[in-house]
Amino acid sequence: MKMIKTLLQNNLVSNLLRCKKPDELIEAGSNSGLNKTLNVFDLIVIGIGAVVGTGIFTIIGIAIQGGQNTVGAGPAVIISMLLAALASVFSALSYSEISAMIPVAGSAYTYTYATMGEFMAWMVGWILMLEYAIGNITVASAWSGYFAQFLKGFKHVLPAWITSCPLWLRNDYRTMYVMCDKFNWNPHDVMPFLHLPFNIEIPIALNIPAILIVFLLTVLLVKGVKESTRFASVLVALNLFIITSFIVVGSFYVAPHNWWEPSFMPHGVKGVFMGAFTIFFAYIGFDAISTAAEETKKPQRDLPIAILSTLVICTVLYVLVALVLTGILPCSAIDTQAPLAHAMRCIGKDWYAGLISVGALCALTTVLLIYQLGTTRILFAMSRDNFLPKSLNAVHKKYKTPHIMTWLSGLIVIICALFMDLDVSAALCNFGTFTSFILICIMVLILRKTEPDRPRPFKVPCCPLFPILGILTCSLLMWCRFANDSDSPLYFLLWLLIGLGIYAFYGYANKRRHDS
Ligand code: ALA
Repeated sequence: MKMIKTLLQNNLVSNLLRCKKPDELIEAGSNSGLNKTLNVFDLIVIGIGAVVGTGIFTIIGIAIQGGQNTVGAGPAVIISMLLAALASVFSALSYSEISAMIPVAGSAYTYTYATMGEFMAWMVGWILMLEYAIGNITVASAWSGYFAQFLKGFKHVLPAWITSCPLWLRNDYRTMYVMCDKFNWNPHDVMPFLHLPFNIEIPIALNIPAILIVFLLTVLLVKGVKESTRFASVLVALNLFIITSFIVVGSFYVAPHNWWEPSFMPHGVKGVFMGAFTIFFAYIGFDAISTAAEETKKPQRDLPIAILSTLVICTVLYVLVALVLTGILPCSAIDTQAPLAHAMRCIGKDWYAGLISVGALCALTTVLLIYQLGTTRILFAMSRDNFLPKSLNAVHKKYKTPHIMTWLSGLIVIICALFMDLDVSAALCNFGTFTSFILICIMVLILRKTEPDRPRPFKVPCCPLFPILGILTCSLLMWCRFANDSDSPLYFLLWLLIGLGIYAFYGYANKRRHDS
């Protein structure tokens, strides 16, 4: 009671709604001292580097086949992809308007602070952790799947314990149970169990490659990896080459009847919508372009062009990959761990499967690195705004990097990877991203009212229709998963509650203490 009274006396509501003025943000951004060197080409490279990864190399398999709690779209995944692209394009237009108007780093977190106030800014920062940190669990699991495929290519050279290491040492326990269900295995035959009193049994399954790659990248980031778009552009060119050649080589092996036999939509409209929710993961990342706003030469012109071009390029590639993949193999034969490499192996192109695995490993490593860096940056910004302890922002004496924050981000991913599988972590990441996309569309509507005269180098066409359509499509796809899955929506709500708890019991007071 006393606490509530004190909070009210301290003007709780006005504190929760206190915004940072866009001019303050722009001024802070222009004084950041960052070099303005990026052009539209660099931005597209960043965009494709952040977008092309697990979605097209792995999750496409789950969108087609379904996961533990979801049904798949079958060959109708093409429609799912277009639906996910539609949800993304309305949000991309909104991102373009806001990022061109307020060209500062921090993405959705910063924009929320400018429009909806402190409380929502905290919640968006917390939700962005789902996109970046939990999204990284998905990417790390996918990395592990392709790494296993890659090692198989060396079965005549390397010892068997490396090339065919036991499943429980390269999967989490949830994935192990999915495989047991699918192949009718007895779990006790494929993984060890820890036996506790009262007949409690704990399955032991650790995705060691996923944990190791996150650990190695964290060490790398602590030592200070210089972001270099030149290096990224080489990796992006390699990805695009591998994906394009999959389309070209695979198209010779397409058997069109696979598209409609046994069914184009094995689970009807529900499967298509669930597939759209799942494959949405493949589009996540174009918002990373807006984080480079302060380093862009002509942000007002280049940000919108880069965001929209990235989306168009990716959508065209994704639809073509989906057409070829579902044309090469019957749906039931499509792999859910490394579908593209597996498809090539099925048509007897083993060497090519190896090449795809190498390309996928490069693409996934880039995404992991960008997301790991993104997690650190958002936590860094939240701590700078006094939502989190300042001590977390300590900079390493020798490497000059925020080492504590970097380790914290790495540990979050490693610990969560012990009990989350790829499907659940991707769903959580999607929930987080859908929520931030919905908020971005709402922000466009708010800013049109509160800042009608601020120059807008780019405007969402047909406003308010397009932002409203963005809100509706994102909400519809989220609702589809909410209505048909019991696990991940629960985890999502739990995540929101934990965020709310940290703000109520720590962030709010800490901010008052340091801001005053
Ligand atoms: N879109 C990114 C990927 O597919 C997150 O890996």
